[in-house]
Amino acid sequence: MIENNKTKTIGLNIESLVLNMTLEEKVSIIHASLKFESGGVKRLGIDNLVVSDGPHGIRPELIPDIIEFVQANRDDDFSVYLPTELALASTWNSEYAYEFGKTLGLEARNRGKEVLLGPGMNIIRTPLNGRNFEYMSEDPFLTKSLAVRYIHGVQDQGIAACAKHLVANNQECERFTISAEMDERTLQEIYLPAFKASVIKGGVKSIMGAYNQFRGQYCCHNDYILNRILKEKWGFEGFVMSDWNGTHDTIESGNNGLDLEMGTEQDWNNYYMANPLIEAVENKEVSMSKIDDKVSRILKVMSFVRNFDVSTLETLDTKKHDNFALKVARESIVLLKNDNQILPLKPFSVKSVLVVGANATRKHAIEGGSSQVKARYEVTPLEGIQNRFEGTEVIYCAGYSEDENDDAALLRQEAVNAAKHADVVIVVGGLNHTAHDREYIDRVDMNLPYGQDDLIEAVVEVNSNMVVAIVAGTPNNMNRWIDKTPAVIQSWYNGMEGGNALAEILLGKVNPSGKLTITFPKELKDSPAHTSAKSYPGVDGQVFYEEGIFVGYRHYDFNEVKPQFCFGHGLSYTSFEYSNLKVSKSKLSSESDSINVTFNIENTGGVAGAEISQLYIMSINSRVKKAVKELKGFSKVSLGPNEIEEINLSVGLEDFQHFDESKNEWMHETGSYEIVIGSSVEKVHLSVAVEVS
Ligand code: GLC
Repeated sequence: MIENNKTKTIGLNIESLVLNMTLEEKVSIIHASLKFESGGVKRLGIDNLVVSDGPHGIRPELIPDIIEFVQANRDDDFSVYLPTELALASTWNSEYAYEFGKTLGLEARNRGKEVLLGPGMNIIRTPLNGRNFEYMSEDPFLTKSLAVRYIHGVQDQGIAACAKHLVANNQECERFTISAEMDERTLQEIYLPAFKASVIKGGVKSIMGAYNQFRGQYCCHNDYILNRILKEKWGFEGFVMSDWNGTHDTIESGNNGLDLEMGTEQDWNNYYMANPLIEAVENKEVSMSKIDDKVSRILKVMSFVRNFDVSTLETLDTKKHDNFALKVARESIVLLKNDNQILPLKPFSVKSVLVVGANATRKHAIEGGSSQVKARYEVTPLEGIQNRFEGTEVIYCAGYSEDENDDAALLRQEAVNAAKHADVVIVVGGLNHTAHDREYIDRVDMNLPYGQDDLIEAVVEVNSNMVVAIVAGTPNNMNRWIDKTPAVIQSWYNGMEGGNALAEILLGKVNPSGKLTITFPKELKDSPAHTSAKSYPGVDGQVFYEEGIFVGYRHYDFNEVKPQFCFGHGLSYTSFEYSNLKVSKSKLSSESDSINVTFNIENTGGVAGAEISQLYIMSINSRVKKAVKELKGFSKVSLGPNEIEEINLSVGLEDFQHFDESKNEWMHETGSYEIVIGSSVEKVHLSVAVEVS
């Protein structure tokens, strides 16, 4: 464990420390002095604050004093490579979310970092967003539930987490300038809840402003979001940092709630919150008390990290972290389709397996943008299959290539010829961080690239004993082959052990339990964000969230649009039965009131498995336009064959509320509701009527 050799001068009397500082010293603390460091005050023994990406591993060291993000190519900056956040979310496992944060907190501390730039928690609004793999869900309740536990995990290691990117950073297209436009109800019900919970329930120590604008003002210094809502309404006591080079105005950043300006430009003294801010204070355009507040917020977080009692920490065990990556990967994989139980593969009946696809041998860790990781290792799907398929001949054909100069028809023909002789064919396709799932760009459509559709169709033609495994961080169009393909698995950028996890699922050594946290539409045009150019990618620098609260399953449900695979969908090798739904009361009558909801789940199949059950609330005859169902609870339980377990959830008045724009506050409608228990948003098993008075 690298002892945090930062000076511990920042005692608890931060006020006096600030009073003792010159304006120049105060300002040196509130802007970057290196790519991933804010300034310190040598005279007072205050060292720079050290921040680091990223949300699923500790970013490798970059050359600190150039504009570009270039690797320093050191040999001491390897990291755990956990499955990306969308994979973590697909486990619906709150304990894993905590352990995920804890793992990152310990590795961050070991690398001398003080603030971890994660979790990312933006709502997944469009299948085209290049950073969907870095976020959790289309649903605010699921996002906030997992983000809060992730933050607890990080901060229990004495490392500050950073909830990002506040707010409405839901596309990479024109990300530095686009202005997100939405009504207040949509903001409050969909795009703020995860950040609000991160502050109020997570106690998050830092927030990162988004690059984009919100209603015409940059998020990194947006008075409404940062002052009115984050600091005044929610009482946020940590600090707000800008995204890198996301600051655009000195007076606004001085007055609108930005506390730390980060960036890569090397002219540190000319940052908006550097010399120009000193001038603004001297010209009385920004008050000294605003500067003092920024400095105090940063010193408080420094104090939290530097005075943390490291003796309480677990000894760093990287093998344990690597093994945790396998545990998450096993539970993140979603079995989308499994006709006539082709899966799990029966080892004795599989003498030869043909693995096809560039993604079978592809590694992903080091790409994707700021969330990149120099993984201690990364097991590819082919390696995983070779590791786990004992006694089976494993043959590999590329089948397709990412290089357009390669002969696609020849590669396809080779795969087809090999497929004719294999007992089973595993096609591993999908996307990658070079061209699709990455920061800075959005995809232009939902189609699988590199001729994968042609390949899959050609293979299933000659051998119907085949499985398609998709490695990607977002939905893809499957229409060309989904009906002909007996089994489809959604894997993700599934971390350093993703290949082993996939192989274990294929063999049934692990029973798949992952469930979708985003809807997989049949066609892009079915997506609620894609009704017009205004709605995505925006026109004239503005993107209008015309779907309002009807994002994700709220849209497909309400408008009765059938998706390819719905929110909460995921199959198992066993079966589960739901029964005996009970509520502790049938009427909610006050703010503090709550209803305990219990029901039973029985494993009625022959193998152990885990089931994720979901609790939705439906309004009956509501006078306000609402989603048909909203997720307000979930649970994951592991059951052996024939085991039965009682699930306990509870709902309170806030779960029945909607945001009333005319009153500008959260309200609930008196009247009838239904509490609905489902294994997905479409598969409802139990329901019970309740009243809210
Ligand atoms: C990037 C990302 C942000 C990241 C930061 C530092 O542009 O938007 O998520 O933490 O800059 O690399």
